[in-house]
Amino acid sequence: MPSVANRVAVLHGVNFDVLERRDASIYGGISLSELERKISDWAHGLQLEPIFFQTNSEGEFCEYLHRSADGLADAVIVNAGAWTHYSRAIADALELTKLPAVEVHLSDVEARDDWRRLSVFDGLVLAKVSGRGPDGYREALERLAGELGAGG
Ligand code: DQA
Repeated sequence: MPSVANRVAVLHGVNFDVLERRDASIYGGISLSELERKISDWAHGLQLEPIFFQTNSEGEFCEYLHRSADGLADAVIVNAGAWTHYSRAIADALELTKLPAVEVHLSDVEARDDWRRLSVFDGLVLAKVSGRGPDGYREALERLAGELGAGG
C-alpha cells in the first residue's frame, strides 16, 4: 500500500491515439504523447503520480476503470471523447470506482454541437473542465490534489 494517496489515472478514450490528426482549430494539433508529457510535469509538480491509459475500445475503458477501483489509482481524470455523450456503460463503470473524478475536454463542448452538451458523467464527477485546452488537465490535477490532500 502506498503511504500517500497520490496516484491519478488519466484515461483517454476513442480517437485520442490520433489526436494530432484531429482538427487543429479545435484540438490544437497536439499529440497524445505531448499532452501526456505536459500532464506528467504538472502532476509531478503537485506531488501526484499520473498513470496513463488510452483505448478505442469502450469495453477496455470500462475494464480500466474497474482496475482503477481495484487499487490501481486514488483518483481519475476522464476524457472519454465522444463516449462522454452516450456511454451509460462507462458512466456505470466510473460510478462503481467510488474514486474522486474530474471530467476534462480539450474543446468547449458547450459551444459546439448540441449533442456534445450532454455528459453521462453529470453528477458523478467533482468537476467538469471544458474548453481550456491542455491547461484543463492542470486544473483537474489541482482539484484532485486538493481532494487527496497531496501537493504540499
Ligand atoms: C472531446 C470532446 C468530445 O465531444 C469529442 O467527441 C472528443 C474530444 C474533447 O476533449 O474536447 O473526442 O472530449
